[in-house]
Amino acid sequence: MNALRIPFDKFSKENRVVFFSGAGISAESGISTFRDPDGYWAKYDPMKLASPEGFQQNPKLVLRWYAERAKVARKTKPNLGHHAITNFQKLFSRSMVITQNVDSLHARAGNEPVLELHGNIHRQKCFKCGDLMNPEQKIEATLSYCNCGGMFRPDVVWFGENLPRRILLEAYQASIDCQIFFSIGTSTQIYPAAQLPFEAQNHGAFVIEINPEPTPFSNQADVSFRAPAGEVLPKLYEEFHAALA
Ligand code: OAD
Repeated sequence: MNALRIPFDKFSKENRVVFFSGAGISAESGISTFRDPDGYWAKYDPMKLASPEGFQQNPKLVLRWYAERAKVARKTKPNLGHHAITNFQKLFSRSMVITQNVDSLHARAGNEPVLELHGNIHRQKCFKCGDLMNPEQKIEATLSYCNCGGMFRPDVVWFGENLPRRILLEAYQASIDCQIFFSIGTSTQIYPAAQLPFEAQNHGAFVIEINPEPTPFSNQADVSFRAPAGEVLPKLYEEFHAALA
């Protein structure tokens, strides 16, 4: 790891810091990514499982798939990458997580605040009126209905749907306001989320990418670490802590 390329003398504990994550940060917890050779979209058709049309065609299939993923997410634990962010957040009090992940692992590691761009797999909302299902109600793999008659569906963003507007605006503002931006475990292919590292850098942030594979952002990153997040983040935390604490 070559952390020497990070200009620690330019940074302070008062800096605003964003940790932007994708499925790769959860990989070491045992959760599948989407676009890797063994990822979900190599085995399943995203249009059948992650689109409003797919849900309307076969709601039971979609609910079963999400229930299975939610079960896996509940059984897994945050990993060294998530825990390193918790440590980072003690060093940088003005920091936040922006994630495309729906698995709650950031929150379970104590990362806070966490902006969930693509929703959360442990919640459901009405397909018709958008109301959230009562959190006391157990999410089943079978169909259940809202008072308005609409079907409950996972509260995640599907292909062809808009991201929650307020959360996206907040994420955009945080990205253009920060001094350090970490882009962790994302293929940087799905927009508008993929725009955030570019925006951060265009507005002056130092952008550190962590991903074993190159992405469309890699050439532009100020520093790019080609290794797993669970290896890189704890080491980087030690480096930042030694330089700034
Ligand atoms: P992808 O599956 O597209 O990308 C995961 C990235 O993580 C890849 O670039 C891998 O190289 C990298 N990776 C794998 N293991 C890693 C590790 N241990 N440490 C760091 N990086 C690692 O997932 P996302 O970029 O999150 O949306 O995908 C964005 C969105 O597309 C998802 O939120 C999901 C998906 O379709 C919806 O379902 C709407």
